[in-house]
Amino acid sequence: LGNGLALTPPMGWNDWNAYGCNVSEQLVEQTAQAMHNNGMQAAGYQYVNIDDCWMASSRDGSGNLVANSAKFPDGIAAVANYVHSLGLKLGIYEDAGTATCAGYPGSYGHEQQDARLFASWGVDYLKEDWCNIPFGDFSGRSHQQVAQTLYARMRDALSATGHSIVFSMCNGWDSSVQPWNWAGPVANLWRTTVDIQPNFASMLNNFHINVGLASHAGPGAWNDPDMLEIGNGMTATENQAEFSLWAEMAAPLIEGGNVVNPSSSTLSILTNKAVIAVDQDSLGRQGTQVSSSGGHDVLAKPLANGDVSVVLFNETGSTATISTTASAIGKSGSSGYTLTDLWTGGTSTTSGTISASVPAHGVVMYRVAGGTTGGGGGPTSGPIHAVGA
Ligand code: DGJ
Repeated sequence: LGNGLALTPPMGWNDWNAYGCNVSEQLVEQTAQAMHNNGMQAAGYQYVNIDDCWMASSRDGSGNLVANSAKFPDGIAAVANYVHSLGLKLGIYEDAGTATCAGYPGSYGHEQQDARLFASWGVDYLKEDWCNIPFGDFSGRSHQQVAQTLYARMRDALSATGHSIVFSMCNGWDSSVQPWNWAGPVANLWRTTVDIQPNFASMLNNFHINVGLASHAGPGAWNDPDMLEIGNGMTATENQAEFSLWAEMAAPLIEGGNVVNPSSSTLSILTNKAVIAVDQDSLGRQGTQVSSSGGHDVLAKPLANGDVSVVLFNETGSTATISTTASAIGKSGSSGYTLTDLWTGGTSTTSGTISASVPAHGVVMYRVAGGTTGGGGGPTSGPIHAVGA
């Protein structure tokens, strides 16, 4: 979306994966405070995002949304002020239909009113979900057409507020909507998958869906394979794999775990600056699969300074040697390339072969420097074209 926002993938936190409907002012403020103090903010995490269940069960007499007063006794504007005082930004959640997925009032027919309210509260990011859509009001139109109409409405409503609000669409789990095919001019990011769960199979499924969509992503418009599950149940090796794969795919890095009391392993994965730099690279290219066979994947992502980030990913249950070459990842013209291992920090040189022993469900991730770069990777963002409101 050409609103000047999210020129690199958004980074932050969202309560849903770890807390479900148990969101509150206290949780959001404690989390913001923790991110401020534990190195996450310094590493680039910026958005503190409230998901479903923050609202009272009905609108007020003027039709305005109201926060649940037990969960948010001081209201959302006060939470926004607090989060802003730490130098962070606040995100909120709504739904394009008549009710959110958990049954709270949806934005359908209230798009402008809700956008104005969010802006007046100081909200910086909106995730708009896709439950309880009144398809009957759009007879003869497909789910994709209805999504195009409703999300363009909210995009325009947000734009009319004059405030900078990142727009995140959450409709890619409806398989007929296929937002990547049309959402570049509508949203800053769009979900491409079903809801992630904190296990390797779910993470792998979302990776497989998202990795083929690279040609649709670019600055301001990102494929979203769902929020991170670091610390929510996978092994450290699997957490490292998820973080590396998401960075290689230029995915939003929205952590979905408890970051108030994270383990040292969780925190060190989340704050690996070398991996984050791959995600946040200004070229904005989503990495692509250079090869994939027998559950052994090689991914390459061209970077702004001419380096290429490579992930060797072992989907299988046993250790394997995974190999590629400098030319396969788009590098040529040198007799010696430098490989920096982004998890150990170690460096080595190679005349061409890039190969490592990769643990079951794990990755080895290199930044490859030297020679010239061309080929590999996909095109950048698609053309910006109008989608009707
Ligand atoms: C479905 C979304 O995909 C989830 O991320 C979460 O926002 C829930 N809805 C909330 O009800």
